[in-house]
Amino acid sequence: MDSAFQWNTSYSVKVEAMDAQHKRLFEIIRELYTAMRAGHGKQVVGEVLHRLIEYTVQHFAAEEKLMEKNGYQLLAAHRIEHKTLTDKVVAFKKDFEAGSATVTLEVMTFLQDWLTHHIQDVDQKYGAFLNSKGVH
Ligand SMILES: [Fe+2]
Ligand SMILES: [Fe+2]
Repeated sequence: MDSAFQWNTSYSVKVEAMDAQHKRLFEIIRELYTAMRAGHGKQVVGEVLHRLIEYTVQHFAAEEKLMEKNGYQLLAAHRIEHKTLTDKVVAFKKDFEAGSATVTLEVMTFLQDWLTHHIQDVDQKYGAFLNSKGVH
């Protein structure tokens, strides 16, 4: 599973600032995976999950602002997907803190799906559009 959390060019959205934020997101997710796999306690994993949520909220806001500023037509649907992802990660944090045994695998499967589906399908769609507006 380790390689699944490494950023590579197949994740590029062709917008430098967003690629940089996605790389940071991968870093935090790798940190989370490492902490979970090492069997770190609730406090450590909870702290990484907290940072993941904070960074996710910041990244989604930055992405939405960029799409809005450039009049991206698919913004509304994109925003809904961000909201769903944020809600899920917040719910996972709650489950984790409540001591759900299955949460590790579930969280990792969810995060992997997020990175592959959301970045490679949904985010990559704004790349060509923003490039056509002079945003690289
Ligand atoms: Fe997005
Ligand atoms: Fe993104």
